Amino acid sequence: MKTVYYLLILLLPVAINAQPDNSGKKKPGKVKWIYPGEVWPDNQGNHVQAHGGGIVRWKDTYYWYGEQRAKDLDPKYKYVSCYSSKDLMNWTFRGNVLKMTPPDSIPANWVLERPKVFYNQKTKQYVMYFHLDANNYKVAQVGVAVCDKPDGEFRFVKRFRPLGEESRDIGQFIDDDGTAYLVFEDRPHGFHIARLSEDYMTVEKDMTLVKAAMEGGAIVHLEGLYYSIGSGLTGWNPNPNKYATAPTLGGPWNAFKDIAPPETRTYGSQSTMLLKVAGTKDTTVIFMGDIWKPRTQWDSRYLWMPLEIKDGKLWLPEPRPWKINIKTGKVTYK
Ligand code: GAL
Repeated sequence: MKTVYYLLILLLPVAINAQPDNSGKKKPGKVKWIYPGEVWPDNQGNHVQAHGGGIVRWKDTYYWYGEQRAKDLDPKYKYVSCYSSKDLMNWTFRGNVLKMTPPDSIPANWVLERPKVFYNQKTKQYVMYFHLDANNYKVAQVGVAVCDKPDGEFRFVKRFRPLGEESRDIGQFIDDDGTAYLVFEDRPHGFHIARLSEDYMTVEKDMTLVKAAMEGGAIVHLEGLYYSIGSGLTGWNPNPNKYATAPTLGGPWNAFKDIAPPETRTYGSQSTMLLKVAGTKDTTVIFMGDIWKPRTQWDSRYLWMPLEIKDGKLWLPEPRPWKINIKTGKVTYK
């Protein structure tokens, strides 16, 4: 009897742990499909918190940086999260690589959005750009932070307006030749694609200024053509995202066209990046969008879908579960 009693005591915590909880946490397991718009569990079973994010591949690993918007954060700070993956489906949480209080005269209720990280070969530094603002969005600057590791603690260095212009949403583009560009939305003038300086610590040269009111800017270079995608300016509410093409980054860009049926408002999402996976059999371009939930930001979702791109035309198909083999570049639908 005594043994049974001890056994019960021993097993109690197991039984408690086995209870389903209400935290939205899922049992960690292998992710086999990408479900656009669904909760995306990381290696610990928590929904991935990397909103307005960017993905970069170094060696055989993808890193996903984004806005950390978990529910239980200390409101004194803003955070940038980092995840890593070898297959674009299973993401390991590497920690919050930036944890920051507002710099100097920026008010406590500030904004840190859309972080993007570049690796500079010459300085061997990881250089992070993010949108830095006051909560009335009047500061319109970028912040720059650096680290010598992809998942170490980034150190804030400075803030400024790129090329002296207003900058709100930012995007990241690394061309096939390795040149790094920052895409930024400048309300009075339009949509910039600007080259970073040699050490990536500043924004040096405008390649193009598209006179369009667009944000959530993303670029991809495919078969000799540049495609740029952006959304309209409707805050957290989705709108029909559009694309244009140009033979060079400097343009000329043709007129912006819908990427999906406009009434779907990009299936409820907003662009943040275009990720090219060049495999041995196929080259797939993934549309990465955010499905924002402004009142429950921690529950904001991701809409990732392979784009249909052919003869200079680009289309976002209706979302459905899919997976990718990053070696071959081949996509399979469930
Ligand atoms: C969106 C922008 C988001 C965030 C939001 C705030 O237009 O893309 O990054 O700034 O507005 O309302």
